[in-house]
Amino acid sequence: MHLVAFSAEHFRNLAPFRLEPHRRFNILEGRNGQGKTNLLEAVYLLSAFRSFRDGRNRELVAFGQERATVFAEIVKKGVSRTVEVAITPKGKRVALDGKAITSLPDELAHLSVVLFGPDDLVLTKEGPQLRRRFLDRAVYAVSPEYVNELRAYGVALKNRNRLLRQAQEGRLDPAVIAAFEKELVAHGARVMLRRLQFLESYRPHFVRVFSEITGGELAGGITYRGLGKASLADATVADLEARYRAVLDEARQTDLRRGFTSVGPHTHDLGFTIGGRPARTYASQGQHRAFVLALKIAELHRIHDAIGDYPVFLLDDVSSELDEERNAQLMRYLDSAGGQVFITTTDRRWIHLTGDTAVWRVAEGRVSAEVG
Ligand SMILES: Nc1ncnc2c1ncn2[C@@H]1O[C@H](COP(=O)(O)OP(=O)(O)OP(=O)(O)O)[C@@H](O)[C@H]1O
Ligand SMILES: [Mg+2]
Repeated sequence: MHLVAFSAEHFRNLAPFRLEPHRRFNILEGRNGQGKTNLLEAVYLLSAFRSFRDGRNRELVAFGQERATVFAEIVKKGVSRTVEVAITPKGKRVALDGKAITSLPDELAHLSVVLFGPDDLVLTKEGPQLRRRFLDRAVYAVSPEYVNELRAYGVALKNRNRLLRQAQEGRLDPAVIAAFEKELVAHGARVMLRRLQFLESYRPHFVRVFSEITGGELAGGITYRGLGKASLADATVADLEARYRAVLDEARQTDLRRGFTSVGPHTHDLGFTIGGRPARTYASQGQHRAFVLALKIAELHRIHDAIGDYPVFLLDDVSSELDEERNAQLMRYLDSAGGQVFITTTDRRWIHLTGDTAVWRVAEGRVSAEVG
């Protein structure tokens, strides 16, 4: 799957552009603050309909403008489609093949995109939030309908939190809260099941890639951490509902005191291990980098399994953060795998690709093809 045409208007600091990206490697080169990440963000928007940066979609609109649009023509398994996303004062508008879509259908798999950026480089070190986001995005890439399940869970969570606060303020009898938890438990269990099923299929790729990258000295591991210590492998939806229900029962008094829900998928985490020990506290710098590199490459493999094609791979300035050896491994992988790649850099000397490459210069928001 790849973009054959790509354009945008009033998107962040980018001057209106239309380009025909290379089928394989697109290097976006420019100094700091020129708009390189913004370009990747525009591609990402076409897949996820939101940014990978924190913040609101409104912020994507160029200062002083009303509306931003991003458009691409995508070829997927020989079939060409178009997708357009507009950010307007009235919200987001999405059109597939020129037809507006109002809800998010399963065919959202129109464009799979994987981002490898600065946030990923600290996945093994920082708190659980980044890892949850990594997991949720990875699940979404292979099961787009997951976005609806996650949203339903979020709504149920908000509702329970509201009830907890009402009870705190004495406007609600705390005894009734348990009766309102059915939705939360049902949606929560579904979210957990998706994540667990994803991990089962993803883990073998990760273990293999990590071993390849590190020469097989120590095994890399990933576990799902949530709902207590017992393993959740092979759990059914009914098991997960029962477990979640039990944990909620236990937490209710604390939650009532605090005014928010302290248990459930929104608090869960991934456990990363190297040689059976927590990566966070035991891994060397090189091992941390090997780990995140393996996480990302495994994600591409997993998506390839799911859709029979490589996703569009966006690399935001990672080469300068990886050491020479890891960077060389990344480049070797990119050369050996298929798929379209967009890679930003301030200095092209970091990028050693033998495959066909187009270079785009990004300067003060203007994108131009480099000739020669
Ligand atoms: N809505 C907006 N309208 C106009 N300009 C914006 C908007 N949002 C961000 N910018 C500008 O975009 C620029 C940042 O672009 P971007 O993050 O793509 O830079 P970059 O080339 O990736 O730089 P670096 O190499 O430092 O990562 C900043 O100058 C910022 O002020
Ligand atoms: Mg950037």
